Amino acid sequence: MKKLFKLGLLALTVMALMIAAVGCGGGEEPATTDGEDTTETLTVAFEPTFAPFESTDENGEFVGFDIDLINAIAEAQDMKIELKSLGFDGLIPALQSAQIDIAISGMTIKPEREEKVDFSVPYYEAGLIMAVSEDNNEITKPEDLAGKTIAVQIGTTGANKAQEYKEQYGAKVKTFNTTDLVFMELVNGGADVVINDKPVTKNYIETRGEGKVKMVGDLLEGEYYGIAVTEGNTELLEKINEGLNKVKENGKFGELYKEWFGITPPEYLPGNPS
Ligand code: ARG
Repeated sequence: MKKLFKLGLLALTVMALMIAAVGCGGGEEPATTDGEDTTETLTVAFEPTFAPFESTDENGEFVGFDIDLINAIAEAQDMKIELKSLGFDGLIPALQSAQIDIAISGMTIKPEREEKVDFSVPYYEAGLIMAVSEDNNEITKPEDLAGKTIAVQIGTTGANKAQEYKEQYGAKVKTFNTTDLVFMELVNGGADVVINDKPVTKNYIETRGEGKVKMVGDLLEGEYYGIAVTEGNTELLEKINEGLNKVKENGKFGELYKEWFGITPPEYLPGNPS
């Protein structure tokens, strides 16, 4: 009888210990001891009609400054990444729902966006500019946009500017999914003007729009590009910022900048613009 009682007590103790052990686990992943690589692959997304930042080459490969930059950061920080093409207006929602980890897409750091995602320190200084057909001499400033049709890419700062001019000057706005379609609309005469990021419009003119399209007027707005992550993912954001510093210090950033833009980067980048 006494022995049975002792056994019962032992069984109870074992059960209690087991429950405690499970309780403490707190959903942690079991540690691997066999040296297997457990680094998770991070999904990096962008909208690839934005040369020289991101586009698709003749072999279907993603190429551009953003692509090289994120690869360099990943290398410097031992991060595994995979690249994914998405609509520009889908990038922030995809970060919010954690379907992707990182967006690098010539994305402007804006207060409205900072409420939804977190941005790295700026890595590029850009700005919005108007472009018209080579033979158009009517439009040189925003006031000239009354009754004119503006083509823009959906979800962009250019689209926001166009909306402003619609309200202010009575312009019309046509929105497209890709910048390729935006420029096609201008060249085909379906729009009078394109509002887009200057480095991209410049690249379009140099590579495809020579003799057809020209830039007009001053910069409509200055902008800084940042790499975005899901809001609150401080660990990843710090890794990216640290990586940006590393590639700047080891000369890789300057090398890529020179390769894609033909000049050395401004001194303050990728630090804060202030
Ligand atoms: N800089 C602009 C913005 O953030 C346009 C970016 C478009 N990027 C792209 N890959 N299509 O709204």
